[in-house]
Amino acid sequence: MRISRASRFGGVTRVPGDKSVSHRALIFGAISRGESRVTNLLASADVRSTRDCLERMGVVFREDRDGVRVIGKGLRGLGAPARELDCGNSGTTMRVMMGLLAGQAFSSRLVGDESLSRRPMRRASEPLRSMGAEITLAKEQFAPVQIHGKRLHSIDYELKVASAQVKTALLLAGLYADGETVLRGAVGSRDHTERMLPFFGVELEKSPGRLSIRADQELSATDVVVPGDPSSAAFWLAAACLVPGGSVEVEGISLNPTRTGFLEVLRRMGARVEEQVSVREPEPVGTVRVSAPSGLRGTVVRPEEVPSLIDEIPVLAVLATQAEGRTEIQGAEELRVKETDRIEAVAVNLRAMGVGLETFEGGLAVHGRQLLRAAPIRTFLDHRIAMAFSVAALVAEGVTEIDHPECVSISYPDFFETLERLVR
Ligand code: S3P
Repeated sequence: MRISRASRFGGVTRVPGDKSVSHRALIFGAISRGESRVTNLLASADVRSTRDCLERMGVVFREDRDGVRVIGKGLRGLGAPARELDCGNSGTTMRVMMGLLAGQAFSSRLVGDESLSRRPMRRASEPLRSMGAEITLAKEQFAPVQIHGKRLHSIDYELKVASAQVKTALLLAGLYADGETVLRGAVGSRDHTERMLPFFGVELEKSPGRLSIRADQELSATDVVVPGDPSSAAFWLAAACLVPGGSVEVEGISLNPTRTGFLEVLRRMGARVEEQVSVREPEPVGTVRVSAPSGLRGTVVRPEEVPSLIDEIPVLAVLATQAEGRTEIQGAEELRVKETDRIEAVAVNLRAMGVGLETFEGGLAVHGRQLLRAAPIRTFLDHRIAMAFSVAALVAEGVTEIDHPECVSISYPDFFETLERLVR
């Protein structure tokens, strides 16, 4: 894919459905009693992986005009998969499935692509094992994941990593345990699971730093309207701030406070950010308008903000190159174990474009403003690296070449079509 410098950027757009909400809607629908309709489901490779895994356990999905209907099997209705379950590139699929499968009356095996097979799975298997789960990982850490399903017992567990995938896995496992499962510590990651489960009739207790769920609660089917993905919208918001005179309006995105850290950072950097909420339950949803008429200035992203903007950091690093002064991102070591080592991938590509930056274990620092020069971009098959550097290309001198642009299909299949429309 070749991308030239843009002389304009803007317009009104929508973005595809939220990836996190889409995975959860399919999984919760699958173990519900009754038929759930999911509207605006993200049609991407990662969500397809979740659907394929569920289909192999006997779940039926039917497309109709308004979306996808999930024919629920009830809490104990999933069937033993005849073959291994392929999670593709999707960390959410694999970790959440571990929690779902640990307490089933059958065995299963989860596999993933090369990137997923290098990502840490112990963060999910360890607490699940303390619930009595029988899970074997390759080299004690990685996929393939072998699960021997059995009745679990409840735990009181302190989460060490602020991971919504792990939190969701444990809450699901808690449904197949024998009492009340309590999670403490790093429970402040994205809270789509906690918001959505009560709509499926599940009672959950939430208080600051604590979450608990009772076992054996049957889910009842419900309809889910998936909001637009704020992590996909971030690319357009960033582009509007970078291209001189740019401005964009993105409609219908999730404004869930556990996902809006990027908007706060844009404000601190001097951008004009307007939010208009139109729906409040189960998640705030609305329109966001962004422009940066007086340019950007550097900022510090603190460790406690990171979970609320983790997937937006690659494009934030691109913004930092065009902000006056120093931008530093701290406490983001989780980026090292995403689809690729995103700190390294950002550094390699920014350096290729002529940018000087510092990297450290938990983040990076950039001193702006620096000139970007077109360069061959290495995506490492990571969708967010491909999209972040497509945005960088809009302000680079020359024509930027992105390798493996098709990897955007993991979360945003029509990214390049929308890009073309917004630069026209
Ligand atoms: C996700 C949680 C985050 C995020 C990922 C989706 C989810 O990962 O980066 O894109 O849907 O729960 P972690 O749980 O590893 O923080």
